[in-house]
Amino acid sequence: MSDRIHTLSGYFHEYQKSVTEPEKFWARIADSFHWKKRWDKVLEWDFEGPNVKWFLNAKLNITENILERHLYTLGDKPAIIWEPNDPEEEGRTLTYRQLYHEVCRFSNVLEKKDVKKGDKVIIYMPMVPEAAIAMLACARIGAVHSVVFAGFSSNALADRIDDSKAKVVLTSDGNFRGSKTIPVKRVVDEALKSTSSVETVIVYQRTQEEVSMEPGRDHWWHELSEGVEDTHTAVETDSEDMLYILYTSGSTGKPKGVVHTCGGYMVYTKYTFENVFQYSPGDVYWCTADIGWVTGHSYIVYGPLLAGATSIMFEGIPTYPDAGRFWAIVDKYKVNQFYTAPTAIRALQAYGTDPIEPYNLDSLKTLGSVGEPINEEAWHWYHTHVGKTRCPIVDTWWQTETGGIMVSPLAGITPTKPAYATLPLPGIQLAIMDPDGKELIGNSVEGNLCIKFPWPGMLRTTYGDHERCKQTYFAAYKGMYFTGDGVKRDHDGYYRILGRVDDVINVSGHRMGTAEVENAINEHPLVIESAVVGYPHQVKGQGIYAYVICDMKNRTEQNLVNEIKDTVNKIIGPIAKPDKIQIVPGLPKTRSGKIMRRILRKVAEGSLDNMGDTSTLLDPEVVDKIINGRVE
Ligand code: PRX
Repeated sequence: MSDRIHTLSGYFHEYQKSVTEPEKFWARIADSFHWKKRWDKVLEWDFEGPNVKWFLNAKLNITENILERHLYTLGDKPAIIWEPNDPEEEGRTLTYRQLYHEVCRFSNVLEKKDVKKGDKVIIYMPMVPEAAIAMLACARIGAVHSVVFAGFSSNALADRIDDSKAKVVLTSDGNFRGSKTIPVKRVVDEALKSTSSVETVIVYQRTQEEVSMEPGRDHWWHELSEGVEDTHTAVETDSEDMLYILYTSGSTGKPKGVVHTCGGYMVYTKYTFENVFQYSPGDVYWCTADIGWVTGHSYIVYGPLLAGATSIMFEGIPTYPDAGRFWAIVDKYKVNQFYTAPTAIRALQAYGTDPIEPYNLDSLKTLGSVGEPINEEAWHWYHTHVGKTRCPIVDTWWQTETGGIMVSPLAGITPTKPAYATLPLPGIQLAIMDPDGKELIGNSVEGNLCIKFPWPGMLRTTYGDHERCKQTYFAAYKGMYFTGDGVKRDHDGYYRILGRVDDVINVSGHRMGTAEVENAINEHPLVIESAVVGYPHQVKGQGIYAYVICDMKNRTEQNLVNEIKDTVNKIIGPIAKPDKIQIVPGLPKTRSGKIMRRILRKVAEGSLDNMGDTSTLLDPEVVDKIINGRVE
């Protein structure tokens, strides 16, 4: 049964109901799922604790709602279509029935390796169907998955293994990425040297490269799966049992493990998927994200598969073997809904329209955007050249913490406006706050974006540190969830996300804490101090600009800059490598020792004429020195 909204008045009607009677509203949506036992109470919450529980004491298994539920009606329908990195290699299609059997088989494999309900499993894998199978197998046995983007370094992986105390790591020998091969197993080996919780490593063979296998600990995926039964009885989980942990960056140095639970997340991802994309049975849907990010969790795996959709999974990159690859895939599989990030659109825009010409793209009905603000130019390019002005664009605003889309047009229903995420989805009560903590009422206002009322897909805690969850999201504005984003509500009541107001930067849609990058830079033995800011970047949205005070020893500046980049690469991964590094004699600090980032941001973005008030600086002259040494 679908709870799809079909008209704009239908949207307003549903929205109204979701606000006046939220529990009744969500109970109605939740009713269409398969619960082993129904809830006693729909919602219990306070944002002080915070303490949020949805569908209390209900019992379920999310994979039964993906697999068993669709087995008889959609058994032969493709659930996952996999397109490999190399277009010459044959793709794979897994029907719902095949997916059921593969998930069951791997659930049995995990159980044979003594993985139990509540155990943590790290998934550090390429974009192959087995990654989704692994996630679902964990969910099926009640284990908690934590997918780590396979571009993260061994240090970053080790931090996540340690924090989650993972018992198992699922990985591959290597990954294909464009023309490159990445030795993934080697990264895992390195990470495991400094961690102690992992008992088992299961390696999926993808690139056939040589890897070292530690006897007793490391096993081949295909060997463990051989002869294993392909049916399995799903473990009963509570609605509020942990489904997964996903690490994300904040304004302090250490990434935090965002915790999502089974019942509410299930209800929310399916509901938002069907409504935002206006998915109709039979449609082919493609989200280009990596499963290492929340978009891959909610809108490649859980949302679409809960809805019985066909979800495409792509292993490669948009520019391999050429900049027409996305469009070749759209035509090949007759994709109806296409969901990508502004950074990918801008990267392709740079190649012009020639790479699009050979393809007709006439299967497309809806285009989606996610991860960062989409600038108007990119919006128009996407709309004109990809959507042929025929396809609505859904600019979807949400976060790892929200679990699912929060503010977005409903495709073809909500009138769109370039660069606007438009209106909140049913159940989402937004508030715009001024710096004094007062809610701004009415239209044509701008401030910090908060959410006043719980929604089923929201985070419950940050793993192992509830206080951090409270301080990060629930302390800034009493009784509200603070998103960290600035927002404008225009004269029509439409929402435009303005970007982060904290020390989080968004580089190519990847979220990064400035403190996290600074900590990595500071690991270089000659670095004395550093400060990192974001600056506008044509393709990436934001680039990373690092100001570094160094002991130069006998290095040239260029050598040192390269070494610092390598250090960041090693500590976090290539996505965090600064675009520009300026070696500076000092940083603009106030008398109390606080770095004035406002000045550093201005220099990085090249607005050098007005530095504002610098009279409180300890050494105002340092500003001129920084301006003079600015990296173009
Ligand atoms: O700043 C917002 C930006 O991405 C942040 C969340 O990042 P992450 O947790 O990695 O999740 C990304 C995918 C959901 C937000 O705080 N962001 C995300 N979507 C948009 C956006 N900014 C503007 N418009 C969007 N559509």
